[in-house]
Amino acid sequence: MPPPETTTLWDFPRQSVDGFRIGDPGYPGVTPALACVNVIRRFTAKGDLVVDSMAGSGTTVDAARLLGRRALGFDLAPRRPDILPADARALPLPAGCAHLAFIDPPYSDNLRYSDDPRCLGLLPAPEPAYYEAVEAVAREAARILRPAGVLAWVTSDEYRRHRFTPVGFRTYERLLRFFEPVDVICLARRHDRSGNPMWEHRARTRGFYLRGFKYLFLMRKAAAE
Ligand SMILES: C[S@@+](CC[C@H](N)C(=O)[O-])C[C@H]1O[C@@H](n2cnc3c(N)ncnc32)[C@H](O)[C@@H]1O
Repeated sequence: MPPPETTTLWDFPRQSVDGFRIGDPGYPGVTPALACVNVIRRFTAKGDLVVDSMAGSGTTVDAARLLGRRALGFDLAPRRPDILPADARALPLPAGCAHLAFIDPPYSDNLRYSDDPRCLGLLPAPEPAYYEAVEAVAREAARILRPAGVLAWVTSDEYRRHRFTPVGFRTYERLLRFFEPVDVICLARRHDRSGNPMWEHRARTRGFYLRGFKYLFLMRKAAAE
């Protein structure tokens, strides 16, 4: 396993780590394994509980278990038996049980995750309804975290149909309602569907930029009085 990151710019050339199975590199929207590994190592100890309420292919769950942490993953459309069906806005967990919540939600309606009408991936990022849903997911994460528990939240801005949407800033405003800032990591985007010569040509000739990074917001729930 590579040594922990030391700066706020994280650039992982591949989703996976040699010799380990951490999530599914073929899953659309999969989180880079080393993003989870770095956050879990930094903010939790062995035996702590890590929760991912939008677990997808299970990257957070796999990374946490590999590092000797307890892990629970939930998703509206679970892809594995150890990921449990639940809406991230209503988790079947008691308040204050988790040390870390790692959440990499849909960033807009560009990828189809499921037909479940509760899926955030059906909500376009330019619309207020997306941020209402984000806020509800964040509120639930704050409920299940212990005092001083950490939230890691991945997101990306959107440029689509000639329109830029600052999804990161708008999401951060909502997260600040429940969490205090810890740090912001810039996570280089690799292997996106737009990372090919056709899209690069379009970006140059049509005057827009392809997304080169995602945000990884690190935040903390207030400590108990
Ligand atoms: C970007 S993917 C997560 C990727 C995951 N971290 C991985 O590495 O595989 C977003 C996930 O959020 C799930 N999702 C969307 N809306 C949800 C909701 N309301 N409650 C729970 N899961 C939801 C989708 O089914 C999808 O699996």
